[in-house]
Amino acid sequence: MKVLLIGSGGREHALAWKIAQSPLLTSLYAAPGNPGIAEHAELVSVNVEDHAAVIAFCKENDIDFVVVGPEAPLVAGLADALRAEGIAVFGPSAAAAQLEGSKGFTKDICARFNIPTGAYQRFNNAPKAKAYVREQGAPIVIKADGLAAGKGVTVAMTVEEALAAIDDCFEGAFGDAGAEVVVEAYLDGEEASFFCLSDGKTLLPLATAQDHKRVGDGDTGPNTGGMGAYSPAPVMTPDMVERTMKDIIEPTMRGMAELGMPFSGVFFAGLMITAKGPELIEYNVRFGDPECQVLLMRLKSDLLPILFASATGTLDQVTADWSNDPALTVVLASKGYPGSYAKNTPIASIPVASDGAKVFHAGTASKDGQLVATGGRVLNATATGRTVADAQAAAYALVDAVSWDNGFCRRDIGWQAVARETA
Ligand code: AMP
Ligand code: GLY
Repeated sequence: MKVLLIGSGGREHALAWKIAQSPLLTSLYAAPGNPGIAEHAELVSVNVEDHAAVIAFCKENDIDFVVVGPEAPLVAGLADALRAEGIAVFGPSAAAAQLEGSKGFTKDICARFNIPTGAYQRFNNAPKAKAYVREQGAPIVIKADGLAAGKGVTVAMTVEEALAAIDDCFEGAFGDAGAEVVVEAYLDGEEASFFCLSDGKTLLPLATAQDHKRVGDGDTGPNTGGMGAYSPAPVMTPDMVERTMKDIIEPTMRGMAELGMPFSGVFFAGLMITAKGPELIEYNVRFGDPECQVLLMRLKSDLLPILFASATGTLDQVTADWSNDPALTVVLASKGYPGSYAKNTPIASIPVASDGAKVFHAGTASKDGQLVATGGRVLNATATGRTVADAQAAAYALVDAVSWDNGFCRRDIGWQAVARETA
């Protein structure tokens, strides 16, 4: 099978690494890719925003299957354009990608199909949103409706903070994404991520993970795209997984099909495990980054036929086997992230991969033969172990073997899970 992978982050490096191990693969291309992905794929400079160019590349190179990593191309309709040309693609249609592209859309799906989530209202102007906040009181959550790179959510502990967040949205802090605002009840509990494949009519549950969104040790400081993650999530007991499938994922799949928007691809459900059980915080329509890295370290099965089955309506014919050993990843970021940071700082060396330990590239480039850091989140030191504590020790051993002066990381990834193990 000839495969084109779209994307350039740590998630896509993990996907490339795993797909490259498939006996079914004949050639792997990546657009645009990164130097880590280049170990497994031929990098091609097709402009992903130009759907006609992607289609032309696929036709010229007899591509059998396109795997889309990030959400933006899905929301922009790349999967629809490819499917219209008869090219198999992993990832939902633009209509189904609204589950990530519009928070209001998802909340309406939850209301319509009785999916547990925080009570909410949608607003297109500040005065009405503010009146609702004053009526509800704090804590309360303010969300820009559209894609805001993970920055459009304010968990407001006071009414004043909520009112300021409403002003930010309507004054354009998140561009068009903030033209509509969702005000949502605050949910109290432990967060977890759940990943489940869908082909529109059949579901294949994958695995669970927990991430660390805050930049600082002890889960302090501003939110980021994620500073580390581990899988499985201890809070996701078999009972919680069953309830999540029955109460959240299955009604979403059935509801989307009923509305004429069957969902194919991966449901990435952000959950709050409250006293009442799992409630939906949000959906993403692609793998998490860096959650994908820990998931794929634990996947024993061949990934390629599983993704292909999701794309071609044959998910009932595949299974996924997982290692019970936990995996943990530590994100190395450029000093200053998530604020401003220096670009093109040299990375002198990265440790070589060994069984159950690998550094994925997330924001790197090769300039005149020198590996440099180009992004905020740059490397993902990922390892497995018999326990989370073992995986954590192995991941930090990798971190300590990276030679990059401008990098930093959190030193406590996985702390809750390690505390649980030693309790
Ligand atoms: P989101 O981008 O929707 O995942 O929100 C970012 C983060 O805000 C989540 O990971 C939660 O930590 C927090 N959050 C979002 N919605 C709620 C809610 N209704 N109650 C409590 N925390 C929330
Ligand atoms: N790590 C969170 C995300 O991928 O959205």
